[in-house]
Amino acid sequence: MLESQHSERMDLLGLHKVAILVVCFLFAYDYFNTTTVVVRVKEPRFTLLGPYNTVDIVVKDEYDRLIDLEDFHFKINTLPCKGYDNGLLLVIIVASNPYNVENRMTIRNTWGQNIDATKVIFLVGESDNATIAQTIRTESEMFKDIVQGNFIDAYRNMTYKHVMGLKWVAHHCPTARYILKTDDDVVVNSDALRMFLAEELSPWGAKDLLICEVFFKAEVHRKNSSKWMVTKEEYSGNYYPTYCAGWAVLYSRDVVARLLKAAANSPYFWIDDVHITGILAEQLRIPRTPFGSLVLSSHRANLLLAFGASYVGEFLLGPPDITVPKMNQIWKAIPTQPPDTKYF
Ligand SMILES: *[C@@H]1O[C@H](CO)[C@@H](O)[C@H](O)[C@H]1NC(C)=O
Ligand SMILES: *[C@@H]1O[C@H](CO)[C@@H](O)[C@H](O)[C@H]1NC(C)=O
Ligand SMILES: *[C@@H]1O[C@H](CO)[C@@H](O)[C@H](O)[C@H]1NC(C)=O
Repeated sequence: MLESQHSERMDLLGLHKVAILVVCFLFAYDYFNTTTVVVRVKEPRFTLLGPYNTVDIVVKDEYDRLIDLEDFHFKINTLPCKGYDNGLLLVIIVASNPYNVENRMTIRNTWGQNIDATKVIFLVGESDNATIAQTIRTESEMFKDIVQGNFIDAYRNMTYKHVMGLKWVAHHCPTARYILKTDDDVVVNSDALRMFLAEELSPWGAKDLLICEVFFKAEVHRKNSSKWMVTKEEYSGNYYPTYCAGWAVLYSRDVVARLLKAAANSPYFWIDDVHITGILAEQLRIPRTPFGSLVLSSHRANLLLAFGASYVGEFLLGPPDITVPKMNQIWKAIPTQPPDTKYF
């Protein structure tokens, strides 16, 4: 009897100790994390431009052809970069599923607000669902941020969508210094991204820049059950070349022009990130620089939601494949810059 009471008290004491340790740890963690963190891209493999160090971009591209589609045209187009002859910092091209009306609305209301230094557009194909096709037209009239190509929006047509994005940038937003390709189920920390581009990189842009989440020696899926199953006829090797996750790709203008040209002259391969940031980038010897910790992992996203922004350090975007409510939650957890911040 006595002994059991005694041990109960010991347990309570033990719990207190643990609680105190946890609190101390959190304070220490908070302290070290809130002292200024400087973002640095590890081993940058690109050149930063300056006022006297520029590159001329040559766009050689047939407007009416998209890879092997001979009668390509934009069914819906928008020209948000018109008037920015001296350039704008960033254009974000978001590959979107026509059905994801809610995702697009969420992006417009959160990280995708069109401000002077940034334009955001959504890339879609044609939907065979008449209701959705009409929704897309209505959205386009209201927000003027839809770019639609005349190909069927389908899984195996993803590469058309990505290359259409490159084509649109090259022809309709050629003065953008940086181009981010992402998806409609991602949160972009847009203020941090602008600061990163203008201060860590260069407000004048860069050359040979392709920063992304890099995959090395990824195995080709051969199993019939996989969503990513690829036959030997489609891709003969057992491993893909180094490539980037398609939801987080940051390009400089010259890289967009070069990849667009290479895509026009290469056979179609449906996995867009493998094709564009892997096969074609390798052909052109464009180095891939990893985002590293600038991409928010799911684990860190949970820390962000549980403990706040100071616990996860700096990040620019991520994680991928999240739901609309989660996008809203993550956005709310990110501290914002004052609205009058000048980036450019
Ligand atoms: C078209 O899309 C709407 C909205 O998602 C859906 O409710 C409807 O069932 C779809 N129609 C067809 C024919 O698939
Ligand atoms: C891709 O788009 C083309 C052009 O619209 C179409 O002919 C083809 O059937 C589409 N592919 C799929 C898998 O739907
Ligand atoms: C996948 O498996 C199913 C059933 O096992 C088979 O009928 C089908 O032909 C297979 N498809 C391919 C592309 O191998």
